[in-house]
Amino acid sequence: MLRKLLRQSSAFHRQLYTTYLASHLAAPSPTSLRSRPSSPFSTSSSSSSQNPNATFVEHLEDAEESDSPSNTSISIDRSGLYNPPEHSHEPNSDSELVKHLKGIIKFRGGPISVAEYMEEVLTNPKAGFYINRDVFGAEGDFITSPEVSQMFGEMIGVWVMCLWEQMGQPQRVNLIELGPGRGTLMADLLRGASKFEKFIDSLHVHLVECSPALQKLQHLNLKCIDQDNVESADKRIISSLAGNPVSWHATLEQVPSGLPTIIIAHEFFDALPVHQFQKASRGWCEKMVDVADDSSFRFVLSSQPTPAILDLLKRCKWALNEEITKLNQIEVCPKAMELTQTIAKRISSDGGGALIIDYGLNGVVSDSLQAIRKHKFVDILDNPGSADLSAYVDFPSIRHSAEEASGDVSIYGPITQSQFLGSLGINFRVEALLHNCTDEQAEALKTGYWRLVGDGEAPFWEGPDDSVPIGMGTRYLAMAIVNKKQGVPVAFQ
Ligand SMILES: C[S@@+](CC[C@H](N)C(=O)[O-])C[C@H]1O[C@@H](n2cnc3c(N)ncnc32)[C@H](O)[C@@H]1O
Repeated sequence: MLRKLLRQSSAFHRQLYTTYLASHLAAPSPTSLRSRPSSPFSTSSSSSSQNPNATFVEHLEDAEESDSPSNTSISIDRSGLYNPPEHSHEPNSDSELVKHLKGIIKFRGGPISVAEYMEEVLTNPKAGFYINRDVFGAEGDFITSPEVSQMFGEMIGVWVMCLWEQMGQPQRVNLIELGPGRGTLMADLLRGASKFEKFIDSLHVHLVECSPALQKLQHLNLKCIDQDNVESADKRIISSLAGNPVSWHATLEQVPSGLPTIIIAHEFFDALPVHQFQKASRGWCEKMVDVADDSSFRFVLSSQPTPAILDLLKRCKWALNEEITKLNQIEVCPKAMELTQTIAKRISSDGGGALIIDYGLNGVVSDSLQAIRKHKFVDILDNPGSADLSAYVDFPSIRHSAEEASGDVSIYGPITQSQFLGSLGINFRVEALLHNCTDEQAEALKTGYWRLVGDGEAPFWEGPDDSVPIGMGTRYLAMAIVNKKQGVPVAFQ
């Protein structure tokens, strides 16, 4: 199977490989192969159903009133009658975040949207899921493509180099990564491209990261050194991997503009908060999070239109009627729309392009929100802050938001991750690496390669059933937003 996939590469891809990879990437040697966690899981390892979370449905079934055309029942928001549990002197085992969420619901006098819940759970500055710890890898909660294989970051590096060439090889470029996790993708990109001097010397790396704990890990993994800046009192931070300056920011808006820009967003959009809507007999209602009488969280339906209904209307305008009428639930992500507009405006004014890779759909998303703790799907409402929450990315809404924001950008894709990485020459990279490695490294390479480009369970797997590698090749999609001056980006031709 591996051989068959390798044979599928065209002459163009071989040429791309020989131009960029063979000459510039670190020579394929056992030392260039890092060992990766061997967990079979990725955030995408759900079944083909959009919502693998059975307990979510149970919550709805527990609720009191059937107000939906499906069999699923759901409570009506009785916020006006809200009666907080009596003050008690019982010891309270709630975590800080749970207390905080209940506090918001109590003082607001009613339930909060799923989006507000998701945002607090993931990025609350004190106790959000991402804020205080490393959540990646076999020991963490989930694994992502850069953590699966060094080839992922290297291939993104090839895409960035090609775009830089199309941009006319500018001397200074802002290379921005949104949500860099452990910094592994950027480290592999810089290491892989380090021999391509003119390109590497042009890069100022900007990392947009909300988590102080992950910022520290990125600093470590990029082998950063703090230097005194002779021109000002500030410190300069340099990655010793290839000598690039590195800066951290809380938002994309905070990254200085005015230089040609390349933006990478890998598994960033899926962490942005989504609003969920459910079709009821009285029309579309927003799904909210409330506190039940027994003090647990529960879903309810909003009794009145909520502000996010405007985002639902906007999303529906971009869809065909038939697409909407067959759905009983719809998710919308206004934060993704806003971020895309910021990206498109930045690319329009500064030149360059953005690459977005995530698991998602080329259509309206129904009910995809899921929670993962220690590589297992869990209840979205259970012990918030201890599990990752993520939702499918709605790629058409990214396309429309970018088009709306600027007439100077073109949008390409989505294409599958498998097509994207194949076009960039991953088959040749894996072949080269396989020529010069130990048997153990070869196994890790084949498994990693399958996870990145394969579809479903790996057919060659001989290990235990519960750790069979699951391919992310078709469930992950890639989209590019590029300044029209740059022409069509590589892999999207
Ligand atoms: C799912 S992880 C992906 C990590 C990395 N890109 C990878 O593929 O391994 C999401 C990343 O985005 C960061 N993040 C999530 N929401 C954010 C926000 N609103 N602002 C800045 N960073 C955020 C998280 O801390 C984390 O680094």
